[in-house]
Amino acid sequence: MSDPFISIHLDHKTFPSAAGPVRALSKIDLDVEEGGFVVLIGPSGCGKSTLLRIIAGLDLDYAGAVSVGGKRIDGPSPERGFVFQEPRLFPWLTVERNISAGFSPAQPDVRRKIDDLIRLVRLEGFEKSYPKQLSGGMAQRTAIARALYRDPTTLLLDEPFSALDAFTRAHLQNALLEAWLKHGTTTVLVTHDIDEAVTLARRIVVMDARPGSIRAVIPVDLEYPRRRVSPEFEATRYSVLRELETAYGAKEEVRHVA
Ligand SMILES: Nc1ncnc2c1ncn2[C@@H]1O[C@H](COP(=O)(O)OP(=O)(O)OP(=O)(O)O)[C@@H](O)[C@H]1O
Ligand SMILES: [Mg+2]
Repeated sequence: MSDPFISIHLDHKTFPSAAGPVRALSKIDLDVEEGGFVVLIGPSGCGKSTLLRIIAGLDLDYAGAVSVGGKRIDGPSPERGFVFQEPRLFPWLTVERNISAGFSPAQPDVRRKIDDLIRLVRLEGFEKSYPKQLSGGMAQRTAIARALYRDPTTLLLDEPFSALDAFTRAHLQNALLEAWLKHGTTTVLVTHDIDEAVTLARRIVVMDARPGSIRAVIPVDLEYPRRRVSPEFEATRYSVLRELETAYGAKEEVRHVA
């Protein structure tokens, strides 16, 4: 692997609570190469969002060292686009102004960029709508377009497609892959969906719960776009499932729903 772009050496991350400190993450060592695509998957509460927030620079209160481009992260940066687990739009701004972060759509270059992104996330006709007029999935698509607007060098996405129907989800997975292949944006995405992980990732990081740590790193050396019906896809899917079964500590339950 070439020099790591994102370098994570986390001893631990602890949250205070009335019942005493809660250790959310423990001993995480993970490098992401420039232009890499890493997917984090693991049980609810294992610290995926916490880890993503640390990479984003939204949480600096941890023991260890996390750097991007060789520089320790000391706060959020427009270089790192973030799609939160819930959309978090500005309620007083229209869809297009949420996407352009307030820049006036009257400027031709802003207009062009907004229109491209609106097409990408399939929100034509809703440019002038306010967040309260959108469904959850539409709001999330706006948040994805907003993250892409600034052409970030790093894209961090926390379950970005979980509120979407199957077809919109597949479309946005393809759109994300296209943008990634074109711009080489270093991407870290969190999901609970094994197929999504195998469709997108170059490496899948399976996490253990309590406290969150890395259980397995599974490389996915399949060409894009990936065919979900191929034996190679199925084999990778099974490897992830096996690790997840152990991470959940609930073998039969997971096998039952898979
Ligand atoms: N602000 C906070 N204050 C206290 N504890 C927190 C805080 N944020 C997260 N935690 C705790 O840290 C642990 C990890 O939470 P986190 O949200 O990162 O999990 P997750 O893997 O993203 O879960 P999910 O899949 O449900 O989104 C949990 O035990 C949670 O209770
Ligand atoms: Mg989460």
